[in-house]
Amino acid sequence: MTRESWHTRLGFILAAVGSAVGLGNIWRFPWMTADNGGSAFLVVYLAIILLVGVPGLLAEFVIGRRSQRNPAGALYRLSSGSKSWGAVGLFGVVTGVVLLSFYSVVGGWILRYFLASATGSYFGEPGAYFDAIAFGPEAVGFHVGFLALTALIVVGGVRDGIEKATKVMMPAIVVLLVALAGWAISQPGAGAGLSFYLDFDAGYLQENFFAVLGSAAGQALFTLSLGVGTMITYASYLGDDHNLAFDGSAIAVLNTGVGVLAGLVVFPLLFATFGELTGPAAGGGEGALFVGLAGAFSQVPFGRALAMAFFGVVVLAALSSSISMLEIPVAYLVDEHDVERRTATLALAGVVLFTGGANALNPGLFGFVAGTLVDLMLTAGLAGFLVFVGWVLGKDAVEEFSTGASPGVRALGPAWLWSVRTILPLFLLGTLAVNLLALAGIGL
Ligand code: TRP
Repeated sequence: MTRESWHTRLGFILAAVGSAVGLGNIWRFPWMTADNGGSAFLVVYLAIILLVGVPGLLAEFVIGRRSQRNPAGALYRLSSGSKSWGAVGLFGVVTGVVLLSFYSVVGGWILRYFLASATGSYFGEPGAYFDAIAFGPEAVGFHVGFLALTALIVVGGVRDGIEKATKVMMPAIVVLLVALAGWAISQPGAGAGLSFYLDFDAGYLQENFFAVLGSAAGQALFTLSLGVGTMITYASYLGDDHNLAFDGSAIAVLNTGVGVLAGLVVFPLLFATFGELTGPAAGGGEGALFVGLAGAFSQVPFGRALAMAFFGVVVLAALSSSISMLEIPVAYLVDEHDVERRTATLALAGVVLFTGGANALNPGLFGFVAGTLVDLMLTAGLAGFLVFVGWVLGKDAVEEFSTGASPGVRALGPAWLWSVRTILPLFLLGTLAVNLLALAGIGL
């Protein structure tokens, strides 16, 4: 059987942007920015996207397109059969399952808020509502619903499932977000939200440089879907005519744009409604989006319709990301074990049903998986991929990087390889060490 491939170049870009744009942009990014010095954080974050994110993205693309395989098969084959490198790839496949196990729980919350917006049932007491629904049997139910939608798209395959779905979802997300941002900014009192969000607090940055750097790095990996092999897998369905560097930059720019746009909805709306950030909305955290924004929607005209539009956007963004998580282990079973796509998808959804269910029942476990564990696994995973590209592929990586590229981009190949060999893995290993020390209770 011939392996699947993308139908068009735009289809691939939109699918990769769909993977990147997700809860990381809408749920996490605005809060990270506001918590870490506003636009000062933004500057550091943009620098990391450019200097670490884009080269990392290209490293995953190079592995994927050269091998035409899932992460485990890719590293195994490209190293001419090294079991250890195969294991590094397999680590990514496992990380995909771990990620989906918490992401699907949050996806379930969003799905519930989308539906509940029709009746406005959370409008009365947003805080109590979130506390009541976040964990427990009902949360398991909505997690299963979200997982079923994810599996439905993945069963459809690369062209008829993922590509078709993301081609509709991505433009819809952008149109809705632009409209919502325009509306939010025009609310009286929205200006305070804008200055809170984009205030340039250089003093904060100076005093907390390492903390900001750590948050910005973690956020950059998560939002670009790096360190798991999503981008390896998506690029494995590509032909040689792509300019990888161009596609990678386009994906990074679009992804950052959506994050900034989401902040332009969240903060003006919160400040226009409440005048300042108080209560659960002020502290960030997993409930902030739900409690703060849901509270805001309860107080504006046409709140139900606007809330449905907003949570509708978030459902689409979350789905276009969750499919990219499930696709990694599915591709692994299809490529390496000759399992049919439908069987592979159902089997893996069955596994995540339970692992996600455990997260939906246990807030402590959820917090550990969504925060610490995912951060560690992504950082370690990307470091592994970079070392592989830099030291195992070496010149072959530059050749792959150059295939389909314009002469100007080709000239960047050696500099890219050098950074992938040296600075970038060191940077990631440093972040990993700081995170591990923090886990052991040792702060720096
Ligand atoms: N980038 C997505 C977001 O921001 C999440 C995501 C999808 C992801 N696939 C991933 C994160 C792979 C890390 C690795 O919501």
